[in-house]
Amino acid sequence: MELNKAIKARHSTRAFKSSQVDWRDLMDAIDAANQSPLAGNHNHIKFIIIQHKDTIRQLAKHANQSWIAQAPSLIAVCADDKFLEEHYGERGRIYGKQQAGAMVQTLLLKLTDLNIQSCWIGAFTDELVRQTLKIPSHIQVEALIPVGKENKSKATPQRRKKKLLEKTIFWDTWDMDRKPTTFEEPTRQ
Ligand SMILES: Cc1cc2nc3c(=O)[nH]c(=O)nc-3n(C[C@H](O)[C@H](O)[C@H](O)COP(=O)(O)O)c2cc1C
Repeated sequence: MELNKAIKARHSTRAFKSSQVDWRDLMDAIDAANQSPLAGNHNHIKFIIIQHKDTIRQLAKHANQSWIAQAPSLIAVCADDKFLEEHYGERGRIYGKQQAGAMVQTLLLKLTDLNIQSCWIGAFTDELVRQTLKIPSHIQVEALIPVGKENKSKATPQRRKKKLLEKTIFWDTWDMDRKPTTFEEPTRQ
């Protein structure tokens, strides 16, 4: 899929068909996520791929979001911030969150490219998720990502409106919402 199409087509799916996704597609998506920019090029993320129905059901409970139980697969995104904190101090903790976000977004886009739908889940009880997945206490669970083929007959049809481009840009300095006339206008190819 062309990048622009994947960016526009990606959306949060909360209704899945029961059919399983090909684990090799999940490998491809994780491989794409691993190409993301990383502070010091240190990849601090591990992905746990879960396909056991009971485990997915338990995770749905820990997130208090029952629809997650319908997903045929789920990817838990886990971070070990130790190296980043040791090398970059307090900023290392921030970098850890930032690059986890970059990796999740790349993962979601590649899944879209492979015609697999997903949803970024950030609301869950960390300790219960750790217990279920046997994750050590020093590892952060950054996101749970249910994945599968969207059940279009059950999915909510309307897409969330995104902020208008002009409402998201300042020029030169904060609060300057008009493009200065000094800005160069190269001819577009
Ligand atoms: C950090 C983060 C946490 C989120 N947590 C949840 C969640 O717990 N449950 C859920 O249904 N959606 C969750 N979402 C998905 C957002 O609700 C969704 O991205 C937003 O409504 C925009 O819709 P879209 O993804 O279709 O563009 C989360 C998204 C982000 C970035």
